[in-house]
Order: sequence, then structure tokens, then C-alpha cells
Amino acid sequence: MDGKHYRSATQVVHQGQDRDPYTGASTVPIYQASTYHHPGGIPGEFDYARSGNPNRQQVEQAVALLEGAQYGFACSSGMAAIGTALSLLKAGDHLVAPEDLYGGSYRYLTQLLPDLGVSVSYVDFTDLGQIKEAISANTRGFFIETPSNPSFLISDLRGIVALAKQHGLLTLLDNTFMTPLLQQPLKLGIDVVIHSATKFLGGHSDLLAGVVVTDNSELAQRLKRFLNGFGAVLSPFDCFLLSRGLKTLKLRIDAAQSSALQLAERLQTHPAVARVLYPGLDNFKQRELHFSQASGAGAVLSFELKDKARVKSLLQKVRLPIIAPSLGGVETILTHCWSMSHAAMPADLKNRLGIGEGLLRISVGIEDVEDLWDDFCQALA
Ligand SMILES: Cc1ncc(COP(=O)(O)O)c(C=O)c1O
Repeated sequence: MDGKHYRSATQVVHQGQDRDPYTGASTVPIYQASTYHHPGGIPGEFDYARSGNPNRQQVEQAVALLEGAQYGFACSSGMAAIGTALSLLKAGDHLVAPEDLYGGSYRYLTQLLPDLGVSVSYVDFTDLGQIKEAISANTRGFFIETPSNPSFLISDLRGIVALAKQHGLLTLLDNTFMTPLLQQPLKLGIDVVIHSATKFLGGHSDLLAGVVVTDNSELAQRLKRFLNGFGAVLSPFDCFLLSRGLKTLKLRIDAAQSSALQLAERLQTHPAVARVLYPGLDNFKQRELHFSQASGAGAVLSFELKDKARVKSLLQKVRLPIIAPSLGGVETILTHCWSMSHAAMPADLKNRLGIGEGLLRISVGIEDVEDLWDDFCQALA
């Protein structure tokens, strides 16, 4: 694929194939067509839009390029991407996953996968011993999220890959929080990387999308077959939006990450705040492990209020952030994980994982950090 030798700031702009190969247009126009003419009955490069179209091909290659992979598959949402990646398992297989998962993934793994005959064991992914112990004769893979959401638990990717290789297991990793600019799991030996492109890759809170990437041609064939058969593909218009969003990924991540560190440091000293979770903080417990496998701390942080009763007034008073279950937009997004992103998780499990009612997650946007800080201060007063 073109562009492998470029640095990430160039790759996000030029994306391997930035202009339309058919007309030379500066961006690939939206090919709003469901089907393609077969001259004389012979199909061309594209035959039917579910199987492929120029916009999808372009954006799939773009994300694959950023992850250092050969193959990418653009899906209609992050959950569709997770479902597509998990189609690599079949009835009778067993998966090992962390308890501390994004709420939608938790719902998929606990409620949908078992109906398909796939069993799942949940262990603490910060403990390689627990992961190893969970492996049984029918285990086929590990599902990983690091940092975890919203507790910021870090999994040792090199250790997990070594364990997987020892036992011939697949490794699937949700890289939504980090983006390929900060963490490139395939380079550490992970088999399949998943993104909710709704988040940082799209970057403007105007799109629902997911991407699965792999460098393994056999897995790629199976993913392609599933996606074409199942049909949860990304539409031409949404591919266009995703490609457009990607062009500023580096600028957005750099700006948001710098503000996230400043907010995390300031929140730590605020009298209303009990604790702040952010890998960029000097006192972050697993800082060394995180930075051994990622080049940045990202733009999301969590903080817990000393008094959970103050959550309501904070959510009422805060003005700049949108209050919503999402992350990765140009605007700051404030999430009450208990009632929003992790609503699907039982209360006792949330409490056990430290996802208390007083915990809030900030996905820091690209606004001026001083305006954000002023806003949080007035809302916390
Ligand atoms: C880490 C993570 N993975 C997957 C998803 C699901 O993505 P989508 O909402 O695009 O289906 C989300 C959504 O919040 C997420 O935060």
C-alpha cells in the first residue's frame, strides 16, 4: 500500500490514496450507488455496494495504513466492527475477556455471544496469571481493551501476545481510546484491531462507524466473507465523512491530549475531586507499562467526586461539554459512566470495578483549555 514510509501526520492527510483514481478529484467523491454495471455481463472492480465501493475501499485502506496493516473493513458502527471481529469464533469456542469493558461490548459478550454458542470467561486483564488460568481446551482467543474504559486499567500487550502464541490463540483488541497514532497493537503481535470510528477517527460526533484491521490474509478473508454476508457495512457517505475526519486526526489528538494532561493535573488538586485516572499523570500506577506499549496518554480521563451527590449539580451547571455517552469529538464530552456508557453493566459489577456513581469521564476536545477549566471550576463550585 502507498504511504507506508510516511510519518503519521502525512499519512492521515494523504491516506494512501487521497484523490479519486477515476477522475483526479481532490477527494474521493461519494459514490452513491447500490450496484455497478457489468459490461457484457462481466463485473468490473466493483459489482455491488455491499461487497465494496470506492469510498469504502479508500477509507479501509486509510485506517489499515495507520495501523500498519494490509487489510481493513469498514463497518456501520463500532459494535458492528466488534461483531465482525468476533465472527472469527464459532459455536463451541471459548473467549477470555476483561470484566472491565466498554458497556456495549460487555452487553455483546454477556448477552449475544452465549446465544451463538460462544462462552466467555471474565478475568482481571492486569494479571497475566488470571488470564492463563482461564484458558481451557476450547479457548480460541482473548478480547482486549487497554486502557480499559473508564477505569484505565492497562493490559500487558507483550505478555498477552506471548501467552496467546504459546496456546495458539487469537488476539482481538479494541484500540478506540488510543487510535493508531498512539498505539499500534499489530506491531506488538496482536492479530485483529477494532475501532469505534465514531470516536477519534471520525472526530466530529456526526458519524457512527467501525473498522476492523488485520495483517493476516487468512483472517482477512474470513472477515471479508462475514461482512459481505452479514451486510453491516459503512455507507458511501459515512465513508466520506470518516475519510474527511481522519485528515485532522493528528492535529486533534495532539491538541486534545495536551489539554487532557492539563485538566487531569488541575483536577487532581481540586478539593471536590477524590481521584483522577489518566495514564499521563506522574502518579498513574501503571504509567510505565502504558508507555512501554503506547506513545501517548490519549485525550480521555476519568475523575471521581468525593461526594457522589454533587454529580447532578455538576451536570446541570457545566456549559461547554456535551453531556453524552461518547468520546473522541472535537467538542469536550462529559459522560456519567454509571448511567450512560455502562448502563448495560449490573450495579454490583460496576461497584466492584470502581465505576461508582461519582465517577465521570471527560473526553477532552480541542477548545481552549482555559475555557474548559473555568467551566469545570464554576460547575464544581
Ligand atoms: C471503546 C469502545 N468500543 C466500542 C464502542 C462501540 O462503538 P459504536 O458506538 O460506534 O458502535 C464504543 C462506544 O462508545 C467504545 O467506547
